[in-house]
Amino acid sequence: HIHRINIAIDGPAGAGKSTVARKVASALQYVYIDTGAMYRAVTLKVLESGLSTDDDAAVGRLADGLDIALLPGDEAQQVRVNGENVTALLRSLEINRNVSFVARLPRVRSRMAELQRRMAQGKGVVMDGRDIGTHVLPDAELKVFLTASPRERATRRFRELEPGTEITLNQLEREIAERDRLDRERAIAPLLQAADARLLDSTGMTADEVAEQIVQWGLAAARTISAEEK
Ligand code: CDP
Ligand code: CDP
Repeated sequence: HIHRINIAIDGPAGAGKSTVARKVASALQYVYIDTGAMYRAVTLKVLESGLSTDDDAAVGRLADGLDIALLPGDEAQQVRVNGENVTALLRSLEINRNVSFVARLPRVRSRMAELQRRMAQGKGVVMDGRDIGTHVLPDAELKVFLTASPRERATRRFRELEPGTEITLNQLEREIAERDRLDRERAIAPLLQAADARLLDSTGMTADEVAEQIVQWGLAAARTISAEEK
C-alpha cells in the first residue's frame, strides 16, 4: 500500500492551479481544497457587511465568526459560509478587485491557515493557493509552484468570462498583474516559491499534461516515503 501525502500547489492568478489541482485530486482519489475560495468567501462577507478592507480588527472579528466549509463535488466544489451556499457569488469582478486587500490582513490569514491545516490533518489533500508550500503546509511531501506567462494567464481567464462582461483582455491582464503584485509584496505569507518546491511553467501545456506531471511526481514522492518506512 502506498503512503498518502499532501500536495501543495501555489502560483499566480490564472496559472491553472484550481483546474489542475482538481484533476490531480481526482486521479489520486485525494481531497481538493481551494484556499482562494476561502479568501473570496471572507471578501464577500466583508463587502456585504460594508466594513473597510483596511480594518484588520473588525474584519478579523468577522472572519473568526465565519465557518467556511468546502464540500467536494465532481465539478465545482461547493463553498458554504455558516451554512449558506455562496459558490456562485465568489468569482465576480468586484471580489477579484477586493480579495487581495482582505487577504493582506493578519487576522484573516491566521484564521484561514488554521482552518486549512485542520483540513489537511489526515493527509491525502491537494491544496492550492499562494502560501501553501511556504506557510500553511511547510511539511507537504510535494510542493509545486505553477506558473505561465502573464499573457497566457490573462487569456485563459478571458475565455472564462460570461458573455457581455465589460472588460478587455488588456484590462484583465493589468488587473491580474496588480493582484499578483499585491500578493507578492504583502508582509505576511506572500506569494513565493518555496525553496523546496518544483517550478512548473505551464505556458503552452494543456491542463491534462500539467496534471499528469504532478501525479507522476506525487506518486514518486509517496513511493519514496513508503519505501523509507519499511
Ligand atoms: O483563481 P485565482 O488565481 O484568480 O485566485 P484565487 O486562487 O481564487 O485567490 C484569490 C485571492 O485570494 C488571491 O489573489 C490572494 O489575494 C488570496 N489568496 C491568498 O492570499 N492566499 C491563498 N492561499 C489563496 C488565495
Ligand atoms: O486557479 P488558477 O487561477 O491558477 O487558474 P484556473 O482557475 O484553474 O484557471 C485556468 C484556466 O486556464 C482554466 O479555464 C483552464 O481550463 C485553463 N488552462 C489551465 O488551467 N491549464 C493549462 N495548462 C491550460 C489551460
